[in-house]
Amino acid sequence: MLKLGVNIDHVATLREARYRGGSTGEPDPVAAALAAEAAGAHGITAHLREDRRHIQDRDVWALREKITTRLNLEMANVPEIVAIAFKLKPEIVCLVPERRLEVTTEGGLDVVAAETALTETRKKMNDAGIAVSLFIAPDEAQIAASARTGSQFIELHTGKFAEEFSKAESGKWKAECELERLIAGVKLAHSLGLQVNAGHGLNCENLPALLRVPHLVELNIGHSIISRAVTVGLTAAVKEMLALMKNYSA
Ligand code: PXP
Repeated sequence: MLKLGVNIDHVATLREARYRGGSTGEPDPVAAALAAEAAGAHGITAHLREDRRHIQDRDVWALREKITTRLNLEMANVPEIVAIAFKLKPEIVCLVPERRLEVTTEGGLDVVAAETALTETRKKMNDAGIAVSLFIAPDEAQIAASARTGSQFIELHTGKFAEEFSKAESGKWKAECELERLIAGVKLAHSLGLQVNAGHGLNCENLPALLRVPHLVELNIGHSIISRAVTVGLTAAVKEMLALMKNYSA
């Protein structure tokens, strides 16, 4: 069964827009995580950024204490956050690139360039009982390098596919090209023994096309679910995504 990880960063983004620097405030990302779980989400994803622009340290500790599914901590491979992950013990970390000026995680990791450092972190995390995923573009060299790090998972960046999909009809063939890249990438990863997640920019419109990609384990979806929650409620938003994912066959 294809699993859904709900990314709750955007709930914290809304809270920080009003209460930055405070120790409370609404909406509460932990309450959102619990509602997502109650609606059937298989895991919760949160990104503790170095600049703490949305999720705060207190959020990840409260998530660790309260959620009953799986905590997927998105993070940069930097000493401060690595140290927090060791103490926090999420079930899985997803290592992502971080650029301070980006609105959201814009590109995938350059695993080829950072193979040694990523391998070191991967080993340390695994020794602490934490699984490791690397967020990468569906690029052959990056997939091969990810396998060499010994990571259990990769998360394929679906942002380019989603971007092309959202363009006018004339751009649809480009979305088709991106889909083909994802399909080729997932097949290669699968043949190298990697488990494959996917995420970024996925929504109810582009999801049916994405489900043509085989061998997927989990989708991580944030912005569209939290956006839909404003109009239909979080429970309904999670349930409608799960309903779309129901007929996936790997
Ligand atoms: N996966 C990763 C690694 C991400 O960085 C993000 C964005 O925070 C997502 C999935 C979710 O993307 P979106 O919010 O566009 O659904």
